[in-house]
Amino acid sequence: PETINRIRRASKIAAQALEVVLGSAKPGMTTDRLDEIGHEFLLRQGAYPSTLGYRGFPKSLCSSLNEVICHGIPDDTVIQEGDLLNIDISAFIDGVHGDTNGTVVVGNAPQHVHDLVERTREAMLRGIKAALPGRQVNIIGRAIESYAKRFEYGVVRDFTGHGVGTSFHSGLIIPHYDAPEHTDVIEVGMVFTVEPMLTLGSHAWDLWEDGWTVTTKDKSLTAQFEHTILITDNGPEILTEA
Ligand code: MF3
Ligand code: CO
Ligand code: CO
Repeated sequence: PETINRIRRASKIAAQALEVVLGSAKPGMTTDRLDEIGHEFLLRQGAYPSTLGYRGFPKSLCSSLNEVICHGIPDDTVIQEGDLLNIDISAFIDGVHGDTNGTVVVGNAPQHVHDLVERTREAMLRGIKAALPGRQVNIIGRAIESYAKRFEYGVVRDFTGHGVGTSFHSGLIIPHYDAPEHTDVIEVGMVFTVEPMLTLGSHAWDLWEDGWTVTTKDKSLTAQFEHTILITDNGPEILTEA
């Protein structure tokens, strides 16, 4: 319970940081500027950006535009009207991490792009709702994939949710697709992320030469949402709420 209280605090700070960064994204800004805003917010709360220096990752958040599935590195790229922008930001404070991400359309885009964003959020929420104690973790991806399939979206397989707490990635794996071989049983007191990535094309991916930036292989647009959740007797509780 004492560790969970600390994770609550880290998660809340991460959620507030996400709100601040996504709220300040405007056409004409660089992703480096967003990184600076996220970095300064976290430090002001007394937190450290979990990604900064994590396995050599050089920045305080991930910024993933358009066909970038995840782990984009902030740089001098200028955000354009109509871009799909995902920010993934994590706070480390008092020995624990909270991890969250969200996607917005900057300005206006065709309806099918807005639909992808809203349905990806809904897919995440359906995955979270399925996370009841006593079930196997594979129920989560089954719920996500069955929803995504209605719209013929690709469901990314090779990047997963994960246990989070005193470690940024604990070793527990939460698949976002129907993967019956993942049989870990969900227990009260577990804390993990649910962070599906959906695409307008296939789930196949490519890696940039920077060793981090993951794109769709077919360069189709992709969206992601992530919450850190706690499993309680009553079911899942979202910790990354601002
Ligand atoms: N926050 C990401 C996740 O949801 C991990 C980013 S690791 C980094 O698991 F090194 F790419 F920053
Ligand atoms: Co995560
Ligand atoms: Co994350």
